[in-house]
Amino acid sequence: GAAELGPYRHYMQKEIFEQPRALADTLEGVQGIVPELFDGANAAAWRVFKEIDSVLILACGTSYYSGLTAKYWLEAIAGIPTQVEVASEYRYRTSVPNPRTLVVTISQSGETADTLAALRHAKSLGMRHTLTVCNVATSAMVRECELAYVTRAGVEIGVASTKAFTTQLAGLFLLTLALAQSQGRLSEEDEARHLQALRHLPVALQAVLALEPQIISWSEDFARRENALFLGRGLHYPIALEGALKLKEISYIHAEAYPAGELKHGPLALVTDQMPVVTVAPNDALLEKLKSNMQEVRARGGLLYVLADADTHIDSSEGIHVIRMPEHGGPLSPLLHVVPLQLLAYHTACARGTDVDKPRNLAKSVTVE
Ligand code: G6P
Repeated sequence: GAAELGPYRHYMQKEIFEQPRALADTLEGVQGIVPELFDGANAAAWRVFKEIDSVLILACGTSYYSGLTAKYWLEAIAGIPTQVEVASEYRYRTSVPNPRTLVVTISQSGETADTLAALRHAKSLGMRHTLTVCNVATSAMVRECELAYVTRAGVEIGVASTKAFTTQLAGLFLLTLALAQSQGRLSEEDEARHLQALRHLPVALQAVLALEPQIISWSEDFARRENALFLGRGLHYPIALEGALKLKEISYIHAEAYPAGELKHGPLALVTDQMPVVTVAPNDALLEKLKSNMQEVRARGGLLYVLADADTHIDSSEGIHVIRMPEHGGPLSPLLHVVPLQLLAYHTACARGTDVDKPRNLAKSVTVE
């Protein structure tokens, strides 16, 4: 009802703005990086973490994209080979099971039929070690997994997931650090540095939310379009995917995401002076490459919308709209960059007058195949 919405027009907007609180709640009580954060009803995580040699992530929708992001962390920080697979694909294909794999399911609801079926399939293949990052403590997913990390996003009503995604990322980052520690790859110094960055997230997200007026001005242009491209590289490629998913889900604009290096292999053919191209441009090692991808878009008349970090030297000019992020999030940067993309989808949908919280044909929780 209206009372619960407070000053917000939709649950999605409310949930976007609840993210600093959701992250603070999710991280509350985390004193240090310990495997025990992931203990299950009958199992100790430290023992499991010592036994495993790889990770297989299974999820659907937005939760799948948090899994794709986690793969970068798990391989770069914990040094653990990681596969990420859409649950509905994994459950029906013949794969090569490894009993030393930690199967990680990610789910807001904990009831998604395909993710549950994929989990059961993995178990039936002899993979005993299972962990879920889930937002509902009483769900089937938590019951059926050996280990669990329950995020504290609170009830999410908008069909398009927002605060569940960023809290999943926080849980997956903690998992990465706990696995790194179990493998003897996390120094005390690094642990302290990463914990400090995690604790700073609520403040950092608050500053990103203050960009809303600038995003609203972008959304006025997007509302008139029928297509959009999203580009990112590395850790931010999954964020580009999530930005495109949000836009298509609620504004019904056809949106596609590409890793920027793939531009030449297809999507460049779509770029005209009618095509907005959102670029997630953090100040990381791939920035110079991303800048040359942006030149390729401009040369075809494409309209660039760039989310640039505080210390990148990209400025607005003809056909290039830049929003500067307040600060650089280091490895946690995806949690910051996704927020303007959530707001862009939200305000574009509002401008088009769609049913933001209940987009056509979609369900909050897909409990049937
Ligand atoms: C549906 C929802 C999405 C969600 C996906 C997976 O498609 O509309 O927002 O990401 O299911 O749901 P889960 O509860 O497993 O995260």
